[in-house]
Amino acid sequence: MKALPILVLAFALSASACAQSTQQEAGEADRPSSRPGLYQCDGCEATEERSAADLDWRVTLPPEDEPGERLVLSGQVFMPDGTRAAPNVVLYFHQTNAEGYYRSINSTARGGRSDGMIEGWLATNEAGRYEVTTIKPAPYPDAGLPAHIHVYVKEPERRPYYIDDFVFEDDPYITSAYRNRQQLRGGSGILDLTPDGEGGWLGHRDLVLEW
Ligand SMILES: [Fe+2]
Repeated sequence: MKALPILVLAFALSASACAQSTQQEAGEADRPSSRPGLYQCDGCEATEERSAADLDWRVTLPPEDEPGERLVLSGQVFMPDGTRAAPNVVLYFHQTNAEGYYRSINSTARGGRSDGMIEGWLATNEAGRYEVTTIKPAPYPDAGLPAHIHVYVKEPERRPYYIDDFVFEDDPYITSAYRNRQQLRGGSGILDLTPDGEGGWLGHRDLVLEW
């Protein structure tokens, strides 16, 4: 007769632990977002291959001898209110080379991903700033899409998501149809590049995190 209350207590404790665990998972996964499907993201897991504590706010993506025009992208990341700086946000970038290909030298060592070898991670500093040194990518051959740099965001205590690619205003594939298709995640990714005076390019983009 005493076994029943013990069983009930054990079940209650187990259910409580389960609920707590689910709440912890949901807390990270389900931060309210005004954008449906924000967390549906192929490739976002790459953001979690590095932790913010181990990263600098600046990163160089390609190997030193990678052919292409030098490009430096920089800006500030803001909280969804658009005014407060967002520190410790991991940004993961990857892109094609200057011929439009994702070339990989060792996909096994990189978890089987096929993002190509021009990739890198950074974490925004206390002022939310970031800086990426890379080369200007080219459009995929025969795909009709603009040259682009993919960027994924991992905020502290939140699941990762992607934002609009970095693309370039002078690209012939930036058409009115492309502009209309922009999701504007993190704000527009269409950049007006300026010459750096040494044959390379500078691009500025401030990012606003998603609600
Ligand atoms: Fe791509």
